[in-house]
Amino acid sequence: TTAEKAGFDHFMLKEIHEQPKAYRDTMGARLNDEGTAVQLPELKLTAEQIKGISRIHIVACGTAYHAGLVGKNMIEQLARIPVETDVASEYRYRSPIITKDTLVIVVSQSGETADTLAALREAKRNGAHVLAITNVVGSSVAREADSVIVTWAGPEIAVASTKAYTSQLIAFSLFSLFLAQTLGTQTTEAITETITAMKQLPEQVESILARGDEIKAYAEEIAKHKDLFFIGRGVDYAVALEGSLKLKEISYIHSEAYPAGELKHGTLALIEEGVPVIALAVQEDLFEKTVSNVKEVKARGAHVLGLGQEGHEELPKAVDQVFSIPRTVSLLTPALSVVPLQLLAYYASLALGHDVDKPRNLAKSVTVE
Ligand code: G6P
Repeated sequence: TTAEKAGFDHFMLKEIHEQPKAYRDTMGARLNDEGTAVQLPELKLTAEQIKGISRIHIVACGTAYHAGLVGKNMIEQLARIPVETDVASEYRYRSPIITKDTLVIVVSQSGETADTLAALREAKRNGAHVLAITNVVGSSVAREADSVIVTWAGPEIAVASTKAYTSQLIAFSLFSLFLAQTLGTQTTEAITETITAMKQLPEQVESILARGDEIKAYAEEIAKHKDLFFIGRGVDYAVALEGSLKLKEISYIHSEAYPAGELKHGTLALIEEGVPVIALAVQEDLFEKTVSNVKEVKARGAHVLGLGQEGHEELPKAVDQVFSIPRTVSLLTPALSVVPLQLLAYYASLALGHDVDKPRNLAKSVTVE
């Protein structure tokens, strides 16, 4: 009913708009009052045990897997522990090397995904400590894991996951900072800087949501196409994967997300006159490299939407259209850059007259392997 949707036309749009609250609630009391440290009493690992972690595996499905790709980057950058990421349905069958000093992180909105649960059990059988990041307190994954970080996104109804994904990003940033604090891999100043930036995210998301009309207009153009491409480097590539998945799930438009530098090894052959390319050029340190890839697709006639940080002078010159997101520290950009892509998928689906909240062939929670 409309009441349940709080005045929004669809659960997905409501949930996209609930993200600022979800960010605040997920950070909540996990940040100290001074904004200088993270506290995670739910982590059942002593400082000694944390110091003994030699590797981390992140295992999940779908959108939660995409959050894991961003999480890998955060953990490796902040805590310098090597991280591998796996899709849960692949993990068990590759006989992964799981030792007692392996930390296995499973990520699941519902906490009921069969493959993710099976991966958790495999990890426990091998003596690893399992940390679950989940949105459902009493779920199977939450009950069976050794430690649980709950994402306080609230119930997510739309099949296409939005606020659960971004809350998972917040959970990963908290966890990575906690590791860094414990291991001494970052200075107090660096940790404080990231926390300060985290606290600004909810308002920054609000400011993106207020510009939904810009995305809507672009989505109506996209809806006329059969194929499109998302490109990016580093975490921009991880976000590109999520943007592409979202669009496929609910608009049924075919898209591919590609690491920008890899285009010339094959996918570039598909670029022809008028093909839309969404280029994520949010990472400042990779900006020049990404722009050189934008030039490659422009030279073949692509129509490029550039997603970048506010105040950038070079991006508008290199692309056909720009959408800018507010500035934040490099590691946290996915928590902002994904929001316009969620809106893009939503408005494209709407323009095509599809059932936004219940896409064909897909289920909210997949409890069969
Ligand atoms: C299904 C849903 C996706 C979700 C995936 C993993 O495919 O449609 O939105 O990302 O399952 O779900 P989980 O509950 O484990 O995060």
